[in-house]
Amino acid sequence: MTAPLFSPSLIPVSIQSQLPSGYKVRPLERTDYGLGFLDVLRVLTTVGDISEEAWTERYDWMAEHSSEYFIVCVEDDSGKVVGVGSLVVERKFLRNLAACGHIEDIAVASEQQGKKLGLLIIQTLDAIAQAVGCYKAILDCSEKNRPFYEKCGYKLAGIQMARYYDGSTPKDAPKEST
Ligand SMILES: CC(C)(COP(=O)(O)OP(=O)(O)OC[C@H]1O[C@@H](n2cnc3c(N)ncnc32)[C@H](O)[C@@H]1OP(=O)(O)O)[C@@H](O)C(=O)NCCC(=O)NCCS
Repeated sequence: MTAPLFSPSLIPVSIQSQLPSGYKVRPLERTDYGLGFLDVLRVLTTVGDISEEAWTERYDWMAEHSSEYFIVCVEDDSGKVVGVGSLVVERKFLRNLAACGHIEDIAVASEQQGKKLGLLIIQTLDAIAQAVGCYKAILDCSEKNRPFYEKCGYKLAGIQMARYYDGSTPKDAPKEST
């Protein structure tokens, strides 16, 4: 077994106890390619046809930047990945060299939605962001998902602007415009 992307000790035990029986929230692992991680992401947007070799190369790159990338998975009682979420930590000069968390790529498998997994993923990422010293976390979402993030404690703070370099426009972009 390879080391997880970050220390599991960053995930509060109190979150594990709120999951359905047999489920767990844990850091991304190098073997998650075969456990459905990319299928969960497909609920959110286009993922593409990614080989295991390409996945592993990207995982290893993230592992080399493990103080910046915190990707969590919810595993069900059969060991399958059914929920995912990412925190990317940006180091700044302002606010006395502050760190800001960016919450990205939150997705729960369609058949597992409505079980509070999304909420617990956000709470996990919030806890990690605070533990590693972020003064805030920010995220982008569609109007449709705004009530979900409000239930997670987030408040509207400005608008999202985007420019796509591949020629598409945000209106054309699939699903959550990631
Ligand atoms: C959005 C998403 C992550 C929510 O995950 P989930 O596990 O189904 O949500 P939860 O069960 O944790 O919901 C927590 C609360 O938010 C509410 N909620 C969830 N999605 C909602 C929505 N779209 N609109 C209104 N309320 C919503 C739930 O009813 C619940 O409220 P309650 O505490 O009063 O019962 C999930 O639906 C998903 O993966 N959607 C597709 C991908 C996506 O859009 N990701 C977000 C990218 S920004």
